[in-house]
Amino acid sequence: MRQAIGQFHQIAPDWILPGNGAAELLTWACRELAELDTIYLFTPAFSDYTRALNAFEATVQAIPLTVGLEASNVLLPTPPAATGLLLNTPHNPTGRLFSRESILPWLEQFSLVVIDEAFMDFLPPVQQQSLIEWVEDYPNLVIVRSLTKFYSLPGLRLGYAIAHPDRLKRWQQWRDPWSVNSLAAAVGEVVLQDTAFQHQTWNWLATARPQLFTGLAKLPGLQPLPSVANFLLVQSDRSVVDLQTELLKTHKILIRDCLSFPQLGDRYFRVAIRTLEENQRLLNGLKEILGRGDGV
Ligand SMILES: Cc1ncc(COP(=O)(O)O)c(C=O)c1O
Repeated sequence: MRQAIGQFHQIAPDWILPGNGAAELLTWACRELAELDTIYLFTPAFSDYTRALNAFEATVQAIPLTVGLEASNVLLPTPPAATGLLLNTPHNPTGRLFSRESILPWLEQFSLVVIDEAFMDFLPPVQQQSLIEWVEDYPNLVIVRSLTKFYSLPGLRLGYAIAHPDRLKRWQQWRDPWSVNSLAAAVGEVVLQDTAFQHQTWNWLATARPQLFTGLAKLPGLQPLPSVANFLLVQSDRSVVDLQTELLKTHKILIRDCLSFPQLGDRYFRVAIRTLEENQRLLNGLKEILGRGDGV
């Protein structure tokens, strides 16, 4: 498995640690982050970070990400010594991509930088802004990748970390034995070589994402945010809760509200990009509900 991932990313196998999904590796990354005085975390953020950081009693400083701003406009206060950074790019839930150049100064400033690239593979290779190629130059850099999203394997549980071999050896001492089962390892090796599926997915997304984005932007009171991932975050002028219920009742479509992201509340929802037909079904349902005169 390590050899297959190493070949895929052109990096030696001892710089790679497969895990039981990205989630497991984030746990160990957070254990290391928690040893520092403070961890900067952009918010809103994937909720599992809080689980992992709290498990090791980390001190977290939230850095609000102004939703909708271009990535290059992100300004970080200069960190004091012994500060870590946990960054997610492409970012869940906004779908925003941080450029490599914007991250570079942070590698010099922070004691430890953990980059969750769980959604990076949804970009075609030339558009990716992965920091994997810098890992060998920065011993304070950890990259976490997931295979469960791009390859639709959430139940199989498979991800990997790319970091300095000494760090990964330490993580292996901490974790349960046999974290990656043999089915996951076998499938992982095969999917990484499935270039036909990879191209099919990039081609689908290049058409389906603009279709859904444009359709949503045309609907009254909805503003989708530009995204490079396989989902769109959508801002709504009115509460999403009624819209969600009505869409489920009338059209049997469940959109994901963002109540679990405290910074977003009830004015946002996040939708997966699906086939052109399914996207159109969602657009038709939303149009029907938003066009009603009763304000729902
Ligand atoms: C940003 C982000 N990172 C990591 C994960 C976890 O991925 P895995 O299924 O590989 O544990 C998720 C899952 O939703 C996620 O959204």
